[in-house]
Amino acid sequence: MRLAIGADHGGVELKARLADHLRALGHDVDDVGTFGPESCDYPDFAAGVARRVTSGGVERGILVCGTGQGMAMTANRFPGVRAAVVSDTFSARMSREHNDANVLCLGARVVGPGLAQDIVDSFLGARFEGGRHQRRVAGIEAAASPQSPVPGQGGGENA
Ligand code: RB5
Repeated sequence: MRLAIGADHGGVELKARLADHLRALGHDVDDVGTFGPESCDYPDFAAGVARRVTSGGVERGILVCGTGQGMAMTANRFPGVRAAVVSDTFSARMSREHNDANVLCLGARVVGPGLAQDIVDSFLGARFEGGRHQRRVAGIEAAASPQSPVPGQGGGENA
């Protein structure tokens, strides 16, 4: 699979371990940085990964910071990106099967390296189920459209 991976200083060590793991499994990993322990800003690296997902250059993205939160908040601003902050293997699988998540965000200060690796494996190994979930995933984009009816205020066939 073609993957992009990125981290800030809070996630740089875990990113390196995960990139090694993924390459050992045969994945094509595009590492957008950061590459050292110097303090840096997570939006820069979230954008690097998210742009590659939006353009179709990679199939999935993986982002690591202290908590995963800032990475997800940034990545979710990009069209077509569905970034999930995950700290357990069940949520990793469900984020793929039900939500068609295409970016996994991890907190290096939240999960240890062994669990992080299992989370990545669960995420990449799971498939979107489609069906009723396809309508709901489409609704994620539609819900933010100005034409979308506001729940509880009536009107619109989607109300
Ligand atoms: C950096 O100290 C930290 O704020 C960052 O890695 C991340 O946790 C933000 O969401």
